[in-house]
Amino acid sequence: MPLDLSLKPCSVETAALDPLDADTVLRDLPRMNATDDLTALVDALDTLTRRARRVATHLRRTECVAATRDLGMLLGSIRRLGTQPVSAVPEVGDVLLELARRTRAVPRDTISHYGACNPRGSRQRMYLGGTAEAAMIESVRVSEQAVHQAIDHLWRLEQADVADPEFARRCAAVATLLDVPVLAIDLIRDDVPPQFFAQRMRPFFEAVRIGGTDYLGPAPAQIPFFVLDTLLWGAERGDPDHARLQDEMPLYNSVEIRALHGGLAGGRPLVPRVVTALAEHRAPGLDSPVQTSARALAEVLRKLVVFRGRHLSYARRGHDRRIRVLDHGSAGHTVDLLKVVLAHTRDHQHLLQQAMAGRPCGG
Ligand code: HEM
Repeated sequence: MPLDLSLKPCSVETAALDPLDADTVLRDLPRMNATDDLTALVDALDTLTRRARRVATHLRRTECVAATRDLGMLLGSIRRLGTQPVSAVPEVGDVLLELARRTRAVPRDTISHYGACNPRGSRQRMYLGGTAEAAMIESVRVSEQAVHQAIDHLWRLEQADVADPEFARRCAAVATLLDVPVLAIDLIRDDVPPQFFAQRMRPFFEAVRIGGTDYLGPAPAQIPFFVLDTLLWGAERGDPDHARLQDEMPLYNSVEIRALHGGLAGGRPLVPRVVTALAEHRAPGLDSPVQTSARALAEVLRKLVVFRGRHLSYARRGHDRRIRVLDHGSAGHTVDLLKVVLAHTRDHQHLLQQAMAGRPCGG
């Protein structure tokens, strides 16, 4: 069954939309934030909320996503100054809940809104403006698109035979796609000083209370790498923080990603399937179709290890006690979680390498 992952709501089409006529208001956002102008921010949220109230029930899904994106820029900006946006503009709560009902999503902006659904060029929505924030936005924009495409490839292998050439072909495509987040972290490392992220940007991504519930701000942890993990080796429940991340992050993804992820429970992850296939096809030589698939899958795991290793090095610098202003990441965790996730990825890489060398589990 072909899957429409409906990246469309967060595609170029959505980025092009301006259903609340917010371009002019948001062009001024970096100035309002630079001067901590709470009055101007609340006025701007009030203006966009009134426009949204007039149109919310008529908007198409892509327009609802664009409207949430634009209200979201003001939610984060007001929250940074210590005010809950719904206390300042009470009507925005119902508007966000209506937009969420229509998109079947959380009632606030996520990393998709800030990245993939954010227009490039002069209309780009930015809290502060400048090259470092632009690099952050670009890094999450391209990474999410690549991860969605990677999910689409791996999901299609659920029923494929490991010896089928399609298996190796799709894994090779995924390995190439994973160069994108690797390069995104390099971009961040080169263009976003850890101090800039930790002190200037991070406070915009605090949780906001809507309808009595706290919703996390846009966080790169929402990019569905956790779906790739589930496809590759299944759910990991050993570490409580990692389990919480896997439980929470689907909420901040589209209904299509949530459905796909939910449907994977009890499925057959790729790494154990390939390990079993290698054990069953002993000694056929390096060029057997199963070995070819195993090598292609090993390359996927290698790229994930490279991504997570570089991401951890960068995040460690941003978490240095001397520069951080908040002691947890934007999704509420610390770098300790990143070490756990990297260790799991390495464990599965090792498992596969052992099986490829003819030394199954623990050998
Ligand atoms: C701006 C610099 C960044 C910092 C300081 C940072 C820091 C962190 C921290 C502390 C976590 C733990 C969970 C949380 O609190 O969010 C995390 C998780 C995560 N981050 Fe980042 N991050 C950054 C940029 C990025 C970028 C650009 C990407 C994607 C290209 C990314 C992807 C992820 C993912 C996927 C997770 C979940 C754990 C995993 O699957 O490996 N991060 N990050």
